[in-house]
Amino acid sequence: MTTEPIRDQLNRPIRDLRISVTDRCNFRCTYCMPKEIFGDDYPFLPKNELLSLEEICYVAQLFASLGVKKLRLTGGEPLLRRNLPELVGMLANIEGIEDIGLTTNGLLLNKYGQALYDQGLRRLNISLDALNPELFAYMNGRGIKPAAILDNIEYAREIGFQIKVNMVVQKGVNDQEILPMAAYFKEKGITLCFIEFMDVGNDNAWSLKRVVTKKDIYDQLSSVYELEALEPHYFGEVAKRYRYKDGKAEIGFITSVSESFCSTCTRARLSSEGRFYTCLFASQGFDLRQLLRGGASKDELLAAIRSVWERRGDRYSDERTEQRALQRKKINMSYIGG
Ligand code: GTP
Ligand code: 5AD
Ligand code: SF4
Ligand code: SF4
Repeated sequence: MTTEPIRDQLNRPIRDLRISVTDRCNFRCTYCMPKEIFGDDYPFLPKNELLSLEEICYVAQLFASLGVKKLRLTGGEPLLRRNLPELVGMLANIEGIEDIGLTTNGLLLNKYGQALYDQGLRRLNISLDALNPELFAYMNGRGIKPAAILDNIEYAREIGFQIKVNMVVQKGVNDQEILPMAAYFKEKGITLCFIEFMDVGNDNAWSLKRVVTKKDIYDQLSSVYELEALEPHYFGEVAKRYRYKDGKAEIGFITSVSESFCSTCTRARLSSEGRFYTCLFASQGFDLRQLLRGGASKDELLAAIRSVWERRGDRYSDERTEQRALQRKKINMSYIGG
């Protein structure tokens, strides 16, 4: 087992692997999978193109031996993947893996939450962009009301999960929900993470004008609450964290646009069809599935992963300009899972 993680061109170690287990989703969020584009005839990946659970687990083992300690399961919507709890059980047994999280829209947690917990999952990041029923129903593109997600958050908490709620904030769409969301989750003692709207993929009508920055949000919150900055839990933590001075709850900010965090980015990404990406904003990935199914040996696979990481120089958010953001062809958020 390797003790020193491999490092890239900017001396960043590999620490996390974000694994997308499906490119499908039961929501059609306007900023991620707009229904006009992701309609009935959208060419989602056929089943035989997806890595099997065994293949995912094998690839995760290879990454673990190169330094990965943290796994995050994403989608699309990961709870749509068959036998996901079984995969969690397999991943939890990998030597060197210290933490597994899952990012979900939460709609199917009442069905799979307990099985996931029983297989060893402890951390859930649940997306929720508004408490206003009409607005949330519009934003998720499927008419789902927030009560369905709030009930499942409550249920997951009773099971014992550690929960973080993610809210993507867009100017003129849901910025009026910042204070109601903060008040609700403060009262519940649940961490709410505000995410700056990012220019991921090519289909989400991004523009700088629609970004609400950390500063804008912080100013709104601090007109009502006293906040105190917290030290990062670990090197390269994505969210900047604060706590309310008069309560237990925390909030976080994911500031890809206003304060990029590429210099400490230790994250590798694996798509559901087995492509390895070194940045959320990449246009191309390295096809591990082809090697895997072509009979490559373990050493060959390790050498391939190592060489991709060692060549990595990505720092997209550091270099972002509006013009570049709109010109560049990028993989879709639903394909790579954020
Ligand atoms: P934990 O810290 O383990 O709780 O996970 P997380 O907050 O990083 O994961 P989550 O899937 O909840 O992602 C929250 C937001 O952060 C999403 O909008 C992601 O796209 C974004 N994010 C995560 N990693 C990166 C990254 O490396 N670069 C950028 N630009 N955004 C990221
Ligand atoms: N900008 C910021 N966050 C996004 N997410 C999806 N699309 C975007 C975007 N364009 C969020 C989801 C989920 C997480 C994985 O990424 O809401 O919480
Ligand atoms: Fe919405 Fe997440 Fe589904 Fe994208 S993957 S449509 S953000 S629920
Ligand atoms: Fe990492 Fe790319 Fe995000 Fe920068 S933009 S933090 S390099 S994934």
